[in-house]
Amino acid sequence: MVMRKLHQVIPAMPTSDGAGVRLRRSLGQSQQARLDPFLMLDEFSSENADDYLAGFPNHPHRGFETVTYMLDGHMLHEDHMGNRGDLRSGDVQWMTAGRGIIHSEMPQQLQGRMRGFQLWLNLPAKEKMKPAGYRDIPAASIPVVALPGGGSVKVIAGTITVNGRPTPGPMQGLSTEPLYFDVSLQAGETFAQALPAGHNAFLYVYEGDVAVGAAGDARKLPRHSAGVLAEGDAVTITAAEEGARFILLAGKPLLEPVVQYGPFVMNTREEIEQAIRDYQSGRLTA
Ligand code: CO
Repeated sequence: MVMRKLHQVIPAMPTSDGAGVRLRRSLGQSQQARLDPFLMLDEFSSENADDYLAGFPNHPHRGFETVTYMLDGHMLHEDHMGNRGDLRSGDVQWMTAGRGIIHSEMPQQLQGRMRGFQLWLNLPAKEKMKPAGYRDIPAASIPVVALPGGGSVKVIAGTITVNGRPTPGPMQGLSTEPLYFDVSLQAGETFAQALPAGHNAFLYVYEGDVAVGAAGDARKLPRHSAGVLAEGDAVTITAAEEGARFILLAGKPLLEPVVQYGPFVMNTREEIEQAIRDYQSGRLTA
């Protein structure tokens, strides 16, 4: 077994998006800060309604998938296909923009804590123009698996095997074979798991702090940072004194060119120009 080391730390940068929602952006803060097939990771977290009330009014996407995971709060998604997704604490929405989607994501609370993530996951060239798709994944359908050394994992995508027993999450069968785990550890507890050798992988710590690597060779990863993992086929992550919560993502790299213009992610400049023309002429989703 080759233990994956912490290869790169990408501290999240404060930014705002939509109509003025305050975010922390780690992956995607620059073109260099991507990890194929992952394009972007935003964390939104605030007790202050001014930071989120403006929401994300109608906007387009083409060429990739957006995965929204609500930790706390209430958000309503509506799109041009007539889907209405009422996301509450613990729910996930997996949206495949494909050739085009126009949607809004608006907070349904006037106060209190809103916290969660939006991940952008790329699609292979041959799937970028497939019909848009949409799936709501209620919290109750996300398995929670107890770890042998303490702590637990919510399995959103892919499969986790603990004590020889596989537990599949609700999202399966995608081309990039993503793993999306939400891990909770008490102080000193360790998450030790095999990860597919060919996958790119990173974790993002949103509570507490962790050390990545086997004892004696571990490197600290502070909260609100994405930690990109080096090659290998296993990972060991240990929570510091306060315990920790982090998401762990892994996916098969596409190894294709990425050309992004705002909410459109294609393979060539010409395809981006086509997306802009399609959007301007009302044909993005046609
Ligand atoms: Co969107």
